[in-house]
Amino acid sequence: MARRKLIAGNWKMNGSLAALAELDTIATAAAAAPNVDVAIAVPATLIAPAHARVPSLAIGAEDVHEADSGAHTGCVSASMVREAGAAFTIVGHSERRGDQHETSHDAYMKSAAAHRQGLTVILCVGETQAERDAGRAERVVQAQIEKSLPDDAHADWLTLAYEPRWAIGTGWTPSMEDIAAMHAIARAKLRQMIGDTALDMRILYGGSLTGANAAEILALENVDGALVGGASLTADKFVPIIEAAKAQST
Ligand code: 13P
Repeated sequence: MARRKLIAGNWKMNGSLAALAELDTIATAAAAAPNVDVAIAVPATLIAPAHARVPSLAIGAEDVHEADSGAHTGCVSASMVREAGAAFTIVGHSERRGDQHETSHDAYMKSAAAHRQGLTVILCVGETQAERDAGRAERVVQAQIEKSLPDDAHADWLTLAYEPRWAIGTGWTPSMEDIAAMHAIARAKLRQMIGDTALDMRILYGGSLTGANAAEILALENVDGALVGGASLTADKFVPIIEAAKAQST
């Protein structure tokens, strides 16, 4: 089963109107890689200007509220980011699970809200260092998928991202064997939950992925792309990752 590779950036709480100039070069590289999907999640304030600047590039949000509207000061809904030009949203990122104490149930509700509003979703899971050290990484990831995957999840609108928390922003990555093993476990869990359509669902790897290690990681079985933080902030770092995916896709 051939799954198109997806290279998605996540700017987190970084960027500015001036930084959107990076997207020009990224959009050019994306256009030159028609066999790869390229997407960038930006802070909510940058969605509209990013979409206006590079309409050909899939611009997304980094989070949405589970409700469509209401008394939730400071929050942003899926319909709002959609109106601003977002095509997708990240949900359940480990920084939200950590900093904002979000649970897998929150991720479940937010994924459903995003889908209701016509956004596609990148749903994140991943264990902490302590969980890995305790030999619980597999069970943690399986439980996160179990509790956060919407009942009607489908490859058409949902992508899973495995991001071991201890690999995010640290320069550390799991061994290639460990990445492949966890992606196989995630695939099996998805298959148990949604059947053979799970074979069409993309599973991204995230955590200290750069132009230097992208080719090796993207070549692993069940690794269908990447969710990239630091190396997505500038075109000079992000474009080589797009090119690594392009070189491996037919
Ligand atoms: P880094 O690529 O900076 O490690 O971040 C990964 C990530 O959290 C993407 O969502």
